[in-house]
Amino acid sequence: EKMTQQAADLLDWYDIHAREMPWRVGPAARQDGVRPDPYHIWLSEVMLQQTTVAAVKDYFVKFVTRWPAVSDLANAEDGDVMAAWAGLGYYARARNLLKCARVVAQEYGGVFPDTYEALLKLPGIGPYTAAAVSAIAFGRRAVVLDGNVERVMARYYRVLDPLPASKETLRALADGLTPDRRCGDYAQAVMDLGATICTPRSPACGICPWMTDCAARLAGDAASLPRKTPK
Ligand code: ADE
Repeated sequence: EKMTQQAADLLDWYDIHAREMPWRVGPAARQDGVRPDPYHIWLSEVMLQQTTVAAVKDYFVKFVTRWPAVSDLANAEDGDVMAAWAGLGYYARARNLLKCARVVAQEYGGVFPDTYEALLKLPGIGPYTAAAVSAIAFGRRAVVLDGNVERVMARYYRVLDPLPASKETLRALADGLTPDRRCGDYAQAVMDLGATICTPRSPACGICPWMTDCAARLAGDAASLPRKTPK
């Protein structure tokens, strides 16, 4: 069973500093191995595409209060869901959300499938969301690569090649650090690290759990990474 020292250190940090979010399980329950509701994780991850955590929180609570299970959402009127989504933007996401809820309700009896491959076949679920749901809701090992994770990897390993060309390099480096257990906590820990410490403009390297080994911190150029090829 693989658990690198970096992963163990990051999980220790996450146990203390995890951000509270309405779709997450609190630290006490997490200790007991409680996993979050797959419906909640799926809904939050779709909402979080192109939208900040702060903006998503109230919408998430509104949705799960009105539609407590995926089968409730599947039975909703299209217009009610689109109205509840108003303000989040990217309305194709809301259309796919409903499509996906209806497939899960009708073809899976209202129970989300628990593998990356099956999740990937659902409407509106791409590689990122399939990886995130399989890891966070089902504890499966998956490489969850979003912009935060790319930035953290580019700095920790000091990848000087620009994005997007470096994407597969960053994915391979992320894979190498991903542990075989606590995969969902690990995925969320890297995202929290990127959102709160390893931030784009002025990273707080002095309080980072990975500070002693971060190649960019040692070189003094963390804030300049990742480089990006101009569009
Ligand atoms: N961004 C997208 N999904 C997230 C999650 N589960 N935790 C933190 N940031 C995120």
